[in-house]
Amino acid sequence: HFGQSQKPPVRVAITGAAGQIGYSLIFRVASGEMLGPDQPVILHLIDLPFAMAALNGVVMEIQDCAFPLVQGIVATDNQAVGFKDVNYALLVGAKPRGPGMERGDLLKDNGKIFTETGKYINDNASRDIKVVVVGNPCNTNCLILANQIKDIPKENFTAMTRLDHNRAQHQLADKLGVHSTDIRKIAIFGNHSPTMVPYIDQMTAKNHKATVDQQWVTQTFIPTVQQRGAEIIKARKLSSAASAGNAAMNHITTWVNGTAEGDYTSMAIPSDGSYGVPKGLIFSFPVTVKNGKYSIVQGLPISPFYQGLLDKTIKELVDERSAVDHLLK
Ligand code: NAD
Ligand code: LMR
Repeated sequence: HFGQSQKPPVRVAITGAAGQIGYSLIFRVASGEMLGPDQPVILHLIDLPFAMAALNGVVMEIQDCAFPLVQGIVATDNQAVGFKDVNYALLVGAKPRGPGMERGDLLKDNGKIFTETGKYINDNASRDIKVVVVGNPCNTNCLILANQIKDIPKENFTAMTRLDHNRAQHQLADKLGVHSTDIRKIAIFGNHSPTMVPYIDQMTAKNHKATVDQQWVTQTFIPTVQQRGAEIIKARKLSSAASAGNAAMNHITTWVNGTAEGDYTSMAIPSDGSYGVPKGLIFSFPVTVKNGKYSIVQGLPISPFYQGLLDKTIKELVDERSAVDHLLK
């Protein structure tokens, strides 16, 4: 028991709760890993009607963990109930890609989901809700979602590139022979797709400026990070799940608790025009977070090499936006 220090519970919605990311994510959120060991949660688990039997199995397993922090479970295929008074939403529910597909190929099927979900969030969720879109293509799905929102701040709608950020951190740590947590001041710019831009020109390792040779950056590092999702699909015959759930939790934890002094993270957020990115696109930027608010890190030097990469990922997101124009009316 938490005695007088116990905080009131917050409501956390997870869509696609009967899916593979859900199965790894839900239990860690329930254990307090995302919002802290003193923050009780009411879990709102949302999936489609056909998945309700499987979801009921997940609910039984949550009950069987006897988690001290879980103060209630809402398991439903009704989004009005699912998003009622919700404070945090992790929007995972969507189709994953298979071998040989790009994430953008999912836009036609998954885009529609986010129109509907946007309406339900707008009509039911707490006005302070913080949302992270995980379902792919996550940047443009988030754009579709945010377009449905009338009276919740647009900044509260974000998409996940933290997995790409974490992947980059590991690759760099491995190259430099340090621990991944020693790598700071790196970021992902752009789309969660093969055009993403892992930016490392300000990187530090153990608080010292660190450089790696440019040939390794262009020929190995950048392609490895850009193609890691596809590599995992090839190996597992399923898309990344535990690492994706982990990154979604990291995204929310950092948004709530802030970034470490002297470091930044990556979040896909509505562009304010920084770095020449068209306003409104959901674009991954380096951000610092303080008191639950993120700010784009300004003034990072962009070399001609990086500018070329930025132009490509901007173009891709502009094209995705045009492709869903009918959903943005
Ligand atoms: P999965 O197929 O195992 O599970 C998806 C679940 O979502 C299923 O239970 C399905 O019934 C449910 N669902 C579908 N439409 C829904 C809706 N409208 N409302 C509620 N639930 C719905 O898939 P998964 O492996 O868990 O992946 C889910 C999504 O996450 C995919 O789109 C995948 O590409 C994406 N993903 C994104 C990242 C990232 O870095 N942004 C990383 C990994 C996976
Ligand atoms: C990932 O990056 O692992 C996910 O977006 C899943 C995918 O389709 O690659």
